[in-house]
Amino acid sequence: MPRHFLSVTDLSRIEAETLLERALDLKAEWQAGGHSDWPLRGKTLALVFEKPSLRTRVAFEAGMTQLGGHGAYLSANDIDMGGRESVPDVARNLSRSVQAIAARVFKHGTIETLARFADVPVINALSDREHPCQALADMLTLRERFGRLQGLKLAYVGDGNNVCHSLMLLGAALGVSVSVACPPDYRPTPDMLEFAERTAADHDAEIIVTSDPHEAVSGANAVYTDVWASMGQEHEAARRRPVFQPYQVTSTLMGQADVQAIFMHCLPAHRGEEATADVIDGPQSVIFDQAENRLHVQKALILTLLGM
Ligand code: CP
Ligand code: NVA
Repeated sequence: MPRHFLSVTDLSRIEAETLLERALDLKAEWQAGGHSDWPLRGKTLALVFEKPSLRTRVAFEAGMTQLGGHGAYLSANDIDMGGRESVPDVARNLSRSVQAIAARVFKHGTIETLARFADVPVINALSDREHPCQALADMLTLRERFGRLQGLKLAYVGDGNNVCHSLMLLGAALGVSVSVACPPDYRPTPDMLEFAERTAADHDAEIIVTSDPHEAVSGANAVYTDVWASMGQEHEAARRRPVFQPYQVTSTLMGQADVQAIFMHCLPAHRGEEATADVIDGPQSVIFDQAENRLHVQKALILTLLGM
């Protein structure tokens, strides 16, 4: 059975910690001049993307190149998964030619089907339910900034979406307390919340959901936000804007977090919407460190899933 990564919960706490250590080693090695051997020579990662991407795609493609392998990008126009060819047949075909599949899909069920029928590891490169590669990079960024994860408090302000789900679940497993502030109709899903709460309780951490952004950021080490309308929800953007306006991350809101707090965003960002430009481009912002860390964690992830 191949080892898949569809959710952050596919890694135990120990495995997640080991993966982050490995990403730090790979980062140091890369910054010192590159990798001495090419462990992925001759190997191909298929990138099946139903939605646009900058960071995720480039991190996988550059990561494969840096480790001696290759990333083959297949857009919705190229393969029309589920239209031109069924999802199980895409999985069966790719399994005959490539060593792993990363997929960005609209419905989480699509990636579950891919995984069920693939003989090679399948990686969730974003679904409507989770964005697990992003959460790994975010935990690496927190670790670099604070030298630890256990005991930190992260405030997530905005839509209780895929990014929020993965942050809650991985944060809980690594001892990071996560306070989510969102409009009442945009809370994380109850199953995700319940799982995160149970996981947090086992790791001396806490998950809180509130509709008050001030309560969530109070004393936080990191303040995180994401777009108000995710990919596929563009038609809801105008309706969502007034609902989310009280959740905009401003310098005033940042001032209620810890004095050393950092500002985080998975990107792409909309200046003047989910956060003001002075925060996004300000001294507390670590958004491009997060973006860079996608590369290092995704390299570590591929090696781990391939048992290397
Ligand atoms: N943060 C992130 O996943 O960016 P992309 O959508 O550009 O891949
Ligand atoms: N929540 C956003 C994240 C983009 C990286 C989306 O799904 O579009």
